[in-house]
Amino acid sequence: MSKEPTELRSHRWFGVNDLRSFGHRSRIKQLGYSEEDFVGKPIIGIINTYNDISPCHGHFPQRVEEIKRGVFQSGGFPLELPAIGLSENFQKPTTMLYRNLLAMETEELLRSYPIDGAVLMGGCDKTTPGLLMGAISMDIPSVYFPSGPMMSGCWKGQTLGSGSDVWKYWDELRAGNISECEWKGMEGGIARTPGHCMTMGTASTMTAIAEVLGFSLPGASSIPAVMADQSRLAAASGRLAVDAVWNNRAPSTIMSAEAVHNASVVALAMGGSTNAIVHLVALGRRAGLDTTNDLFDALASRVPLLANIRPAGDYLMQDFYDAGGILGLLNRLQDLLHLDAPIITGGVLGDEVEPAEVHEDNIIRGVDNPVSSVPALRVLRGNMCPDGAVIKPASMDPKKLRHVGTALVFDSYREYKAQIDDPGLEVDEDTVLILRGSGPVGAPGMPEWGMMPLPKKLVERGVRDMVRISDARMSGTSYGTCILHVAPESAVGGPFAAVRTGDLIELDVTAGTINAKVDEAEWADRLARIAPADLGHERGYLGLYRRHVNQADQGCDFDFLAGVGNPEPEIL
Ligand code: FES
Repeated sequence: MSKEPTELRSHRWFGVNDLRSFGHRSRIKQLGYSEEDFVGKPIIGIINTYNDISPCHGHFPQRVEEIKRGVFQSGGFPLELPAIGLSENFQKPTTMLYRNLLAMETEELLRSYPIDGAVLMGGCDKTTPGLLMGAISMDIPSVYFPSGPMMSGCWKGQTLGSGSDVWKYWDELRAGNISECEWKGMEGGIARTPGHCMTMGTASTMTAIAEVLGFSLPGASSIPAVMADQSRLAAASGRLAVDAVWNNRAPSTIMSAEAVHNASVVALAMGGSTNAIVHLVALGRRAGLDTTNDLFDALASRVPLLANIRPAGDYLMQDFYDAGGILGLLNRLQDLLHLDAPIITGGVLGDEVEPAEVHEDNIIRGVDNPVSSVPALRVLRGNMCPDGAVIKPASMDPKKLRHVGTALVFDSYREYKAQIDDPGLEVDEDTVLILRGSGPVGAPGMPEWGMMPLPKKLVERGVRDMVRISDARMSGTSYGTCILHVAPESAVGGPFAAVRTGDLIELDVTAGTINAKVDEAEWADRLARIAPADLGHERGYLGLYRRHVNQADQGCDFDFLAGVGNPEPEIL
C-alpha cells in the first residue's frame, strides 16, 4: 500500500471533522452502513451503463453485485452510479451522438462524488470509449469491466452472427432467395443471450482495445457474457479497483504512446471495426497524446490479420475465447507489441501474454498464415478527403481494390433511401455511390449509414458489393467496399461537397488513395463555391454537439474536452 487512508480523495468528505463531513457521514449511515464500512476505505464508484433497453448489458444487475462483492472483499466500499446506457440498436439517430455525453457524465460523476477509484461497466459499442474517455480525463484509478460477447446465434442449424448475417440475409430477402417467413424466423435466433455483438464489431474491438491499453484484467475482453468465468471476472475487477486506488494506478500511469500503439496493433490483427480508429484517436487525445489516424496507416501493412472472426473471417467470439482468446492472439503478436507497457494490475502487458497459448490454429492464425493478405483497416487520402477516410480491405470484394467508376451522388440518407430502389435509376455495378451530409456535424453524430444498401435491381442480378463513399461510419459488423469517415465532411465545407454525379472516381486501396478525376481548374472553381451547410440554430445538446464536435480524423470529441483534469470540487 503506497497511500495512507488520509490521502484518499474521499477523506475530504468523510475523514475530516466539520459541519459538512457530519452531513456526509450521517447520510451514508442513513443507507444502513456504519463508519467501519466506509471511513478510511477506498470508495469505488461503479459506473453502470445498464438500462432496460440495453440487451447487451442485460446481465449487469447480477454483475454489479459481484463487483461489489469483490470491492468489499478487498476492504473497499462500492457505490453504484448509473450512467446513460448507449444501446446501439435503439438509440437514434445514433449512439455516437451520445458517446461524448457519456464521457462527460462519467468524468463529472467521478469528480463530483466522493470517489477514489472506479469500475466502468460497458460493452455495447460506444459505452467503452465513452466510459474510458471520461475516466482518462478525470484520471483516477479505473478498471474497465467488459460486458462480454453474447453466445453464438443459430437458426435452422446455421450459425448466425450479429449484424453481419443481418446484412447478408437482408440482401438475400431482397433478391428473393429467402422467404419473409424465414427472415422472420431469424429474429429469435440471432441474439439469444445477454452480451454484446459476438462478431468482430465495434464492441468486440473496443473491449479488446480497453484491455490492451491496460484498463482490464488480462483476458477479460474475450469472456462470453453468460459464463461463470465472467462472474469471477466481475469480483476480481472489484478487488483490483481497490488495489489500484491504494497504489495510485491512475489512467495517466498506463495511457502512453506505447499503449496506443499496442491497441492499434490488436485492432488490425483482429480485423476490427473502422470505428476503432475514431475512438482510439479520441482516447489518445484525452490522454494528451498526439494520436492521429496516421498511426493505423503506418501499421496497416505490418500487422497481419490473425483472428478468423466474422465479418472478415468465419468464426464468432465464443469460438475465439475457446481458441485462446485475446491473450492467445497477443502471444502471436509479441514481436509487434510493447510488452513492457504498464497495466492496471501493476504489472506489464507481457506478464500474461508470454505464457498464453493458442488452442485452435484456424481461429487464431499464426503470423505466417494470416486470414487475409490485405490489411484489416486502411486510411485513404485524396482530393475528396485530404484529412483521410477509412476502409476495411479484408472485408471487401478483392476485385475492387483498384476501381474506377462514375459517381452517383446523394446529399442525404433520406434522399438515398427514396431513390436507390427506383427501377429507373441510372446505376450499374461499377457506379460509385456517394452519400454526404452524414458526418459528425451534418447528420448529426455520424450515423452508421456508410454500408448503404445496394440498388434492389442490382441485388436481384446477384451484385453483392459496390464502391460506396460517405462521411458516415458503418457498423463494425458490416462489410463491403465502403469508404467511410471522409474528412472534412461535406457539412463543414469539405471538398467532398465538390463531387458531382458523373465525375470519375478512382480508388486504389493498395496505394491508399481515392480521388475525383476532375480537371484541376474545374475542381478549384468548385472548391471556391463551397460553403458550410446552413444547419440553423439548434438548442440543447444537439446545438452543443454541432458547435463543438471535431471531425472524424480528430476523434469526434468535443473541442473543449481534450486533455486531462479540472479542479477538484471545493467542499465548503
Ligand atoms: Fe450492443 Fe451490438 S448492439 S454491441
